[in-house]
Formats: sequence, C-alpha cells, structure tokens
Amino acid sequence: MNYKEHIRVIPDFPQPGIRFKDITTLTNNGVVYAAAINEIKQAIQDKQIDLIAGPEARGFIIGAPLAVAMGVGFVPIRKSGKLPGEVVEASYDLEYGKDKLTIHKDAIKPGQKVLIADDLLATGGTIATTINLIEQLGGEVVGAAFLIELGYLDGRSKLGDIDIFSLVTY
Ligand code: PRP
Ligand code: MG
Repeated sequence: MNYKEHIRVIPDFPQPGIRFKDITTLTNNGVVYAAAINEIKQAIQDKQIDLIAGPEARGFIIGAPLAVAMGVGFVPIRKSGKLPGEVVEASYDLEYGKDKLTIHKDAIKPGQKVLIADDLLATGGTIATTINLIEQLGGEVVGAAFLIELGYLDGRSKLGDIDIFSLVTY
C-alpha cells in the first residue's frame, strides 16, 4: 500500500513554512485506514503490551483502533483541563507552540508495559512528554508507533533508546 498517496500535504498550515501532513484523507478511506492500522499491528505484535497510550487528539485516531485490534486497553493522554480525575502533568514544546499534557494517575499501574501511538513524530516533544507521564506512574514504555515520521526533524533523538516504528517517513 502506498500510504503517501493518501496523505494530503497542505503548505503553510497552521503557519507559513509548515507543510502540514493531513491524515484525514487517509482515514477517510476505510480500506486504507484499516490497512494502516493492521500494518502497525503486525510491526508491534511480537511485543508484550498491556496498554496503548495516545496523546490527544490525533493520537486517538491511531491509538484507539490499534488497542482494539491488539485486544488491550487504551489510555488517553490529554491536554490540561480535560481529564476529570486526579492527574499528573508535564509541559512540552511543539513543532509550533507550547502546551501541557496530562494523564489520570490511576490509568497505568507500576510495571505495566505501555506502547505509545500517535499519528506523527515531528520534533519528538509530544512523545518525550508522554514517556515522562507514563514513567511518572511507574509504567514501562516498550515502544512507540506512528503513521508518519518527519525524519528531517530527528524526533527520535529525544526518545532515548525506545523501539520506534513509523509506517511512512518524510
Ligand atoms: C501534532 C501531532 C503529534 C505532534 C507531533 O499534534 O498529532 O501529536 O504534533 O509533534 P512533535 O513531535 O513536534 O511533538 P498537535 O499537538 O498539533 O495536536 P493534535 O494532535 O491535537 O492535532
Ligand atoms: Mg497530536
């Protein structure tokens, strides 16, 4: 499957100089969406995974169907002020902008093995923060899976030695 054919690139969004990778044109096609989730599943299925965690919002689009396909639970990582229970939080920088991510304190038990899923690895700031949150709860990050990796931003270098799988690289 040529997934790039289904990803729409929009220049100068959300600001000049950013070439936005729009995955809605991929997920709009049920066959391609299912193939992408299945291919990510194949890549990670040898790992022992208790939970999949994904950052709001686009991480839900990849992480939730992947969790259902793998038969494990899904943990939403959310922007601040959204989760109703007790949370831990951490600040992070984006390719464009700054924000805070939070996780429910009881979402992960110490020692649980967690795979992170998101649509896109850019600078790595979102996932570095997600790792920080999971580790604050005593979870063990066993890998990270992405639909897209922007190799030229070298987000990998922020993620230590965790196992990274990306379906498509730019
Ligand atoms: C985008 C994308 C990744 C992140 C990648 O999310 O969905 O989560 O940026 O960038 P990074 O590797 O430089 O951190 P964004 O925060 O724009 O929000 P959204 O998922 O809610 O659309
Ligand atoms: Mg995101």
